Amino acid sequence: MLGAAAAGALTLGLGAGDTGQAETPAPTDVPPDGPEVARAERDRPRSGRHTRVDLVAGAGTADLAGRPVPTLLYGGTLPGAEVRLRAGDQVHARLVNHLTEPTTVHWHGLRIRNDMDGVPGLTMPAVAPGATFDYHFVVPDPGTYFLHSHVGMQRERGLTAALVVDDPHEAGDHDTDLTVLLDDWTDGLGPSPDQLMDRLRGGRTDGPTEPAVDQTSPWGPMLGDVRYPLYLVNGHPPADPWTARARPGDRLRLRVINAAGDTSFRVALGGHRLTVTHADGWPVVPVTVDTLLVGMGERYDLTVTAGDGVFPLVASAEGKAAAAFALLRTGAGRAPGPGTRPRELSGRLLGYPDLRPTAATRLPTRAPDHTARLLLRRFPPGFVWALSGRPWPHATPVPAHTGQRLRLALVNASAMSHPIHLHGHTFALAGGGGRKDTVVVLPGATQVIEVQADNPGQWLMHCHNAYHMAAGMATVLSYRR
Ligand code: C2O
Ligand code: CU
Repeated sequence: MLGAAAAGALTLGLGAGDTGQAETPAPTDVPPDGPEVARAERDRPRSGRHTRVDLVAGAGTADLAGRPVPTLLYGGTLPGAEVRLRAGDQVHARLVNHLTEPTTVHWHGLRIRNDMDGVPGLTMPAVAPGATFDYHFVVPDPGTYFLHSHVGMQRERGLTAALVVDDPHEAGDHDTDLTVLLDDWTDGLGPSPDQLMDRLRGGRTDGPTEPAVDQTSPWGPMLGDVRYPLYLVNGHPPADPWTARARPGDRLRLRVINAAGDTSFRVALGGHRLTVTHADGWPVVPVTVDTLLVGMGERYDLTVTAGDGVFPLVASAEGKAAAAFALLRTGAGRAPGPGTRPRELSGRLLGYPDLRPTAATRLPTRAPDHTARLLLRRFPPGFVWALSGRPWPHATPVPAHTGQRLRLALVNASAMSHPIHLHGHTFALAGGGGRKDTVVVLPGATQVIEVQADNPGQWLMHCHNAYHMAAGMATVLSYRR
C-alpha cells in the first residue's frame, strides 16, 4: 500500500499494538508531486490574484475567561486568526514552525493540489522544529473551511483556524458575516489530548469513558469518548462569551465550523430560525430549521434575520450535558446566562435528506466505475479503529483513476457515529443528495457517497474524531496510473 512510511504511522498516532511498518508504495501510484498533480494544478481556473498567508506555530498561552492556559497556537491566538481567501487565488502560505516538534498545515475541505495537503508521511514530510514551509496552491472553491495541524494531537491543542473562501461572483446579500468556530477543550485544564489518548488506549473500555447523558440523540447513545472541561466558541468559554454585534433586522451569515476532537454540537440561536444555505462550503437549496447537529469537521452556513435584543447562541455538546455558548447582541437587554437552553434546541432538526444540491452543485448521475465497501469498526479489546480493512497504516487503499466515478459504501459496524472526511474532494450523498466532504455515519448504518475522481494524488480519508484517527481509523484514496 501507499505512503505511510514510519513517519506517517507515527504522526497519525497509531496504537502501540501496531508495528507502524508500512509496505512500500506501489509503482503505479500517482505520487503527490507527480506530473498528474502538476497538470491538474495548471488546469485549475485562477483569477491572477495572489494572496499571502503567514502562519507561525508556537507554544503560547490562551486566555480562557481570565485563566491562562499553556498550549500550542498559530500566531499566539486561540483559535488562529481567520484566513480569508478568494476563489481563484494563488495562495502563498508560509508556515513557520516555532514548536519543539514537527508540524504541518492541512487545509480542511480545500480541493487543492495533493502535495500541499499537509498530511505527514503521505503527501509531504512534516516540517521540522525551527523550519519553514511554503505552501503554494490555487484555491478552487468558495466556502467555509478551516485549517489545522495534521500531526499527532496538535489540532486538539490550539493549532486550528477558520478559513473562508469568498466567491468573487457572489452578490453578498448579508449585512454581517460571522464565523462560529466550535471546539472542545482540555489542554492545560484537564488531561492533555495525548494523555487522553493514552488513557483511551489503556482503558480497554467499550465506548465512552463515561455513560452518555442523552440516550435519545438521533446520532446514537454513545457520542464521544471524552467529557471536556470546556466547550468554546471562537476560543471563548461560556464564562466569557464571544459576542456578535449586529442591528435588528440585519441579515447575518453564520459560518459554523466544528473543529472539535470528540464532540458533536447541536446548534441553535434563541428566538431565531436558521436557514441553512451551504453544507461543507457547497450551496444547498435553502432549508429553514430550528437546530442542526454538526459533526467534527463539518461546516454549515446559516442565514438569520436578527431580532432585537440579546440572544443566546448555544452549541450543545450532544450527549454530554454541557455546551459552548455565545451571544448575539442587537439591542439593549440583559444577557441570558450560560446555562440557557433555547427551546429551538428541541425544534425542527436538520437531517441529511434536507440537503438538496442546487442546479450548479448537483453531481451528474452516472454509473460508478468502481464501488467499494468500507467497514467502520473497532478492534476490541483495545482502542483500535479501522475505516477500511486494518487500522492505518495497514488499511486497504481505495484505488482510483482520474475521471472515474466511485461509489463508496461506508458501513458502520460500530456502536458510535463517525464523521468521515475525505481530503481533496467533495462527494455527493447517495440519491442525488448534497455535496459534502465530511459525513457522519450513524451506528449500525450505511452511508453511500458518490465521488468524482478529479484530483489525482494520494488522499487521506479518515474519521475526524481525533482519537479515532489516532487509533488507526484512516485509509487512502489512492490514484493509480
Ligand atoms: Cu480536518 Cu484530515 O482533516
Ligand atoms: Cu470515529
